[in-house]
Amino acid sequence: MKYNALKGVHDIFPPDIHLWQKVEQTARDIFSVYGFQELRAPIIEATDVFTRSIGETSDIVEKEMYTFNDKADRRITLRPEGTAPVVRCYVENHLYNLPSPQKFFYSGPMFRYERPQSGRFRQFYQIGAEAFGVGGPKIDAEILSMLKLFFERLGLKELNFQINSIGCDKCRPDYRKALLDFFSDRLEGLCQDCKRRYDINPLRILDCKVEACIKLKDGAPYVTDFLCGECREHFNALQSFLNLLDVPYVINPNMVRGLDYYTRTTFEVTCEHLGSQNAVAAGGRYDKLVQEFGGPPTPAIGFAAGMERLTTLLKLSSIEKVPSPKVFIAILGTTAEKESLAIADRLRKEGIWTEIGYAGNSLKSQMRRADKLSAEYVFIIGDDEITAGKLKWKKLSDGDQGEMLFTDIYVFLK
Ligand code: HAM
Repeated sequence: MKYNALKGVHDIFPPDIHLWQKVEQTARDIFSVYGFQELRAPIIEATDVFTRSIGETSDIVEKEMYTFNDKADRRITLRPEGTAPVVRCYVENHLYNLPSPQKFFYSGPMFRYERPQSGRFRQFYQIGAEAFGVGGPKIDAEILSMLKLFFERLGLKELNFQINSIGCDKCRPDYRKALLDFFSDRLEGLCQDCKRRYDINPLRILDCKVEACIKLKDGAPYVTDFLCGECREHFNALQSFLNLLDVPYVINPNMVRGLDYYTRTTFEVTCEHLGSQNAVAAGGRYDKLVQEFGGPPTPAIGFAAGMERLTTLLKLSSIEKVPSPKVFIAILGTTAEKESLAIADRLRKEGIWTEIGYAGNSLKSQMRRADKLSAEYVFIIGDDEITAGKLKWKKLSDGDQGEMLFTDIYVFLK
């Protein structure tokens, strides 16, 4: 019997795993200096957590959720994204009673039944952050600036920050009407989904990925032309804060995002090196969502970055060195086997990555393994060396070699 991973999902193992750990560690380091603390929500939620918030007419809810009935016949969904579970947790645990803002970050797998392609998976990982309780644009700018620092620390360049404002409940009705007018004589050409979306949520037509709909939305009115005074002020202030913080951005009035919960600020960070799936991170404000989940009115904003896309970019920039052992102990003979075990034990307790050879392998094959592992030093121990209380050492990078007493090993490595 031969088993394969399911379509659209993937294993992550060495050497790539080191890139993943680097991204996760960098995120932890950067997000924590901005006051974001980790929150771990479950991977499964009641289906309603997602349908209402992400929106009944979104691609995610209409087509992509992994939903099933559990043994008690409850509707359960594997999380397709991380924001709705964090909001559910925030409201359920009355975290709004704590001083504002409350800031959280999370990481882990998300699940969407999408058509797999390069950069798009059915199980993919996000690292995201959400901030609750501040309505003004300053925190929007802080979050974008935090993302910029995060990418800089990873050594990633050539990223484009795109921002937009998609307004609020006050400006939406006028914009909706303008969209209905615009699409009224194009209705026939739209896909079946968009025909339905036309009546329920015409904004979603702008996010449709069907070729015909993409063509038909050309020339559609921009949401930014319909912003109310407060939304316009918020958007203008955000831009001046971004200038102050030296975050380069372009305004993309076409960006509406694929999830319904957004209000005002939305943003995407893209990189051309990624091909068609070029968004590395995306997010925005969702000032109504906490209330929709039964909490008090609480403005909020956040983002999520795609781990696969980030690690792909790191790999392309190939600046990461895969970690390797400091010492490889090659052995000749059975007494040396015991000695190698004892030395490795001491070194490992000192925090030094040590690998050992095993009886039955020739010195040549042990040296080959040390080389493959890119060990910094090889120590060679045979019966003669044990009698003399000494070992031979070799530095693999330059072939330098010598002898030393067993008692000098630690000082030598220091
Ligand atoms: P999203 O735009 O759906 O937003 O996803 C955010 C990021 O996750 C994308 O920019 C991309 O890097 C990655 N991503 C999404 N789908 C896939 C996939 N199928 N395969 C690989 N990577 C993918 C959200 O999920 C929102 N919850 C972001 C947010 C947080 N908004 C406010 N707070």
